[in-house]
Formats: sequence, C-alpha cells, structure tokens
Amino acid sequence: MVREIEFTLNGYHQKITVKPSEKLLDVLRDRLGITSAKYGCGKGECGACTVNLDGKTVRSCLMYAVEADGSVIETLEGFQRLGKKEIQEIYQKHNAFQCGFCAPGFIMSTDELLSQNPDPDEEEIKEALAGNLCRCTGYKNIFSAVKEMVEKRKGRES
Ligand code: FES
Ligand code: FES
Repeated sequence: MVREIEFTLNGYHQKITVKPSEKLLDVLRDRLGITSAKYGCGKGECGACTVNLDGKTVRSCLMYAVEADGSVIETLEGFQRLGKKEIQEIYQKHNAFQCGFCAPGFIMSTDELLSQNPDPDEEEIKEALAGNLCRCTGYKNIFSAVKEMVEKRKGRES
C-alpha cells in the first residue's frame, strides 16, 4: 500500500507518494533529482548517502522514506539557497577530493559539526567525519579544509 508523505527539501515543500519499502535515498535520487546523495555501501558504513534531516545528518540508505514524513531535509543541492555554499568552496580550494564520490557526504557532516560546535579541535573534526569514508585521499586536505572553515568563521565573529 502506498502512502503520501510531505517534507521540506532544501526550502521547498514536497508531497510524494511512496511505498513503505522505499528508502529515502532512492526517493531523493530517483524521483526528486537529488544526485549529491550517493549509493555507496547501502549499509550505513560509508556516509556517501548522508543528508541532513531536522538538523542532524542521517544515512539516507538506511531510512525509509515514510520516516521522513513531516521533516526538513537539506542536501548539497540546497547549499547555495541556504547560504552554506562557502563550505563547498573551501573544500574545492583545498583540493580535498579526487573522484568526488564521497564529497557531498563529507560536506554534510562538516555542516552538522560546525552548526553544533563552531570551534572544534582536530580530534573533534576527525570524530565528526569518522563516519564518512574516502577511497581516494589521505584525508589530509579534507581536515585542512575544515580547519580553514573554522578559522574563517572565528575571524568573522571576532
Ligand atoms: S550508502 Fe549509505 S552509508 Fe554507505
Ligand atoms: S574523493 Fe573519491 S571517494 Fe573520496
């Protein structure tokens, strides 16, 4: 039996009919054009499918779409509109990615970290990004991008 659900996606209201077995990732990718969220492991282990739901990152490969009913979802596609483009730009400046498959997930986790802890130390950055895996890089440039983001925000606040 299908069910109609509603949520806000990157600031826009969405109403969509889903099957109880449909995963949030599949609905986002296949039906709503959200290709930043990727199918990596499908088991909650790689973070490629990370999106933000009600202020917290979730693994959209593990969630059923019906569980997102009534929620507010953010993905990388909405960062420009949501005023969060700077995170992406600093990652690019540091050449933090090679193939880029993991990038949206890292950026979503970075956004969550900085919204909860504006001044994380190195260990806290590593811990916050531990659920995101990258097959290409040594993580060094990823961490340096996050550190620059932290310093930039601190500079603006002082
Ligand atoms: S695809 Fe969801 S955690 Fe890997
Ligand atoms: S840049 Fe290729 S998986 Fe991270």
